[in-house]
Amino acid sequence: MSIQRYLHICIGIVMMGTMGADMYCVKGQPQRILLDTDVDTDDLFALLYLLKLNRSEFDLQAITINTNAWTDAGHAVNQVYDVLYMMGRDDIAVGVGGEGAILEDGTIIQNVGGYLPIIEQGNGTAGYCRYRQAIPVGPGGRLDIDTNYGFRKSFLPQGRRKYSPLRQPTAQQVMIDKISAGPITVLIIGAHTNFAIFLMNNPHLKKNIEHIYVMGGGVRSKNPTGCCPRKAISACQTRQCGNRGNLFTAYTYNPYAEFNMFGDPFAAYQVIHSGIPVTLIPLDATNTIPITREFFDAFEKNQHTYDAQYCFMSLKMARDTWFDDQFYTSYFMWDSFTIGIATSIMRNGKPQNGENEFAEMEYMNITVITSNKPYQISDGSNPFFDGLKVPKFNLKRNGVHSGHVQTGIRDPFCLVKNGKGRCKVSTCLLFVANEKYVFSSFASPR
Ligand SMILES: *[C@@H]1O[C@H](CO)[C@@H](O)[C@H](O)[C@H]1NC(C)=O
Ligand SMILES: *[C@@H]1O[C@H](CO)[C@@H](O)[C@H](O)[C@H]1NC(C)=O
Ligand SMILES: *[C@@H]1O[C@H](CO)[C@@H](O)[C@H](O)[C@H]1NC(C)=O
Repeated sequence: MSIQRYLHICIGIVMMGTMGADMYCVKGQPQRILLDTDVDTDDLFALLYLLKLNRSEFDLQAITINTNAWTDAGHAVNQVYDVLYMMGRDDIAVGVGGEGAILEDGTIIQNVGGYLPIIEQGNGTAGYCRYRQAIPVGPGGRLDIDTNYGFRKSFLPQGRRKYSPLRQPTAQQVMIDKISAGPITVLIIGAHTNFAIFLMNNPHLKKNIEHIYVMGGGVRSKNPTGCCPRKAISACQTRQCGNRGNLFTAYTYNPYAEFNMFGDPFAAYQVIHSGIPVTLIPLDATNTIPITREFFDAFEKNQHTYDAQYCFMSLKMARDTWFDDQFYTSYFMWDSFTIGIATSIMRNGKPQNGENEFAEMEYMNITVITSNKPYQISDGSNPFFDGLKVPKFNLKRNGVHSGHVQTGIRDPFCLVKNGKGRCKVSTCLLFVANEKYVFSSFASPR
């Protein structure tokens, strides 16, 4: 597998201001878009942002759902259906990541949904989701997000479409249909399982994918879950300042990983090394725009539509149930910001250096490290290698996939005495075997 990839990385931000004011349209056909999401709260903001754009410019064709992180299949599909119904968009296809099955020799069974991260897919879905454990089940976690704190049922109008177990179109089928139909841009704002499996299974369809935009990873991020402001009162508890990742309930064990990469590191590796141009919007960028008190208050006074009310309600609930009292410095615009950058670049006609109205861009060679050093040591944690004569997917025995793989959140391997965790699985790293940043190009801030 080739390791060199150019990525476009968004590194910093020039916030807000003239959204939409200097729009100029790409001539001709609207941009066809496929969105892969794990339907967390900020994914809903991102989805609504996308749906509010001019449909003659941006044509959202399909939504595929990763049900392996913040939400479960049935809830997530219904949530998306109802949001689409509210927005008058029952035409948009919705596919769900379903049962996975990858044989021991690496053969991927057709039409696999990708229910589990790739490393955990055996003949069925009996794995125990080592990575998902970074997401709490109870308060503030999966069960709250599944129903968007109950707001789906209590606020959204209900359309005709409903989740139908076993008959629900799979993410794989929807991807095949929409990607084979013509040039398309893929936006990934959750873990990469669905899309990685699609790429591994359908290399002949890669030619139709114009560009991939990803919210994920932390390259040089410094403020993953909020640092105390300089003049903070003593009650402010510093969290994870200066590290790269954002596993906020698990960062002492793994200070490096970012949720979307951590959700399925090997899938992220596949996507980043697919050969398709990728623009990454990592924590480095998203974490410079917290939802401040000023933003929140301004939003509260500007709820002029039903969908704005829905967003505000959801945001307020996210604030009121936030895991600490640092919401205004640690809740960031992750996914919606990503969609903003992606659509701004598309609207500008996809300029070479990714000029857009929100962020500065930089070219970098990066990769995703999916296991920990020492590589090549078989310790029973790594299903790609351990006990197999030929590693899955023909991976190399001494490469970045062949070391210890985090077995769970409280993996003893990850903890060092008196220190922070050492597990690095799934951080995005600068690829150091090459020269570091040979070329960096900055769009001038607007
Ligand atoms: C949407 O885009 C189309 C095509 O560029 C343009 O003709 C139309 O005026 C736009 N509509 C709005 C409301 O901006
Ligand atoms: C998985 O399926 C293969 C082929 O059908 C079979 O040989 C193997 O024993 C199965 N492995 C497990 C763990 O069930
Ligand atoms: C990325 O790596 C390739 C191959 O080594 C190199 O030619 C290129 O200049 C590098 N690009 C950047 C931006 O570092």
